[in-house]
Amino acid sequence: MPKKNQTLGEFIIENQSEFQYSSGELSRLINSIRLAAKVVNHEVNKAGLVDILGTAGETNIQGEDQQKLDVYANEVFIKTLTNREIVCGIASEEEDDFITIKGRNEKNDNKYIVLIDPLDGSSNIDVNVSVGTIFSIYRRVTASGTPVTMEDFLQPGNLQVAAGYIVYGTSTMIVYSTGHGVNGFTLNPAIGTYYLSHPNMRFPETGNIYSVNEGNYIHFPQGVKNYIKYCQQEEGDRPYTSRYIGSLVSDFHRNMIKGGIYIYPNTSKDPEGKLRLLYECNPIAYIAEQAGAKASNGFMRILDIKPTQLHQRVPFFCGSKLMVEKAEEFMKNA
Ligand code: AHG
Ligand code: MN
Ligand code: MN
Ligand code: MN
Repeated sequence: MPKKNQTLGEFIIENQSEFQYSSGELSRLINSIRLAAKVVNHEVNKAGLVDILGTAGETNIQGEDQQKLDVYANEVFIKTLTNREIVCGIASEEEDDFITIKGRNEKNDNKYIVLIDPLDGSSNIDVNVSVGTIFSIYRRVTASGTPVTMEDFLQPGNLQVAAGYIVYGTSTMIVYSTGHGVNGFTLNPAIGTYYLSHPNMRFPETGNIYSVNEGNYIHFPQGVKNYIKYCQQEEGDRPYTSRYIGSLVSDFHRNMIKGGIYIYPNTSKDPEGKLRLLYECNPIAYIAEQAGAKASNGFMRILDIKPTQLHQRVPFFCGSKLMVEKAEEFMKNA
């Protein structure tokens, strides 16, 4: 049982045997993520004081302007994950292709694949609003001893062995799961230690918050338009409250604590949706399910989608179980 206020270090050691593969490598991998998160946190916290705000002058493969902090966080996570003999491949939102890590003596015998959104919520960086990091971890499927291939990265989300996120908010938290529920740790910045502040997080079965960028309403599928109207109707516990930060991590985190639904649908502008399946939706869906919630593309479970591309996008409906089921009903009947 997780003990409130134990440190993340203690928690990892105590719960190592719960990991599907308890060689200690997954624990070390989580350890390196918590370390990189501290480094990024330090930079995010002083962002207004040093020359790290604004765009880096490049666009990424998504066609988005890269912010300086996007580039910085990408470098920190990749360096931290590469320097340890655990990870054999990394895919990132900010990298065109996956990165192969050959490991010690170029033996290609490290076990884990990491997919990462190094800085989520880029548009909020310059205005001092919460941003995050999202990560997803798999075991490689191709044979050890050979370099990783695309097949290792295109695994369905239901094969994740761990996933999580960091939210750089009013306090910095790391929330993750290795398949035995979800635990949240808050960083005490004075001493650089994370403490278990949110043991065994559970998503409320229903809620009264809906989170969607309503500015795109005109471009939404009819089912989503109908569901939004339903949220706004005066009946029972409705109308619901609308809350949208524009950082998936923060919107999800709030809804997990308070109860709610997050929707980023396909639109006539973005027919596949905007969010990326592999390093945004899958890890968030894994956390959602581990906390008793649901994640869907409007019609089917996110974690069952077989990916075909590294930067594939997908419509995303995620949150309190009863709310997602209601939204799916509207999608089906539209
Ligand atoms: P990123 O900053 O990693 O590119 O992700 C941005 C995503 C996600 O964080 C957020 O929920 C969504 O884009 C917001 O999109 P809109 O500004 O179109 O609402
Ligand atoms: Mn981006
Ligand atoms: Mn993102
Ligand atoms: Mn990002």
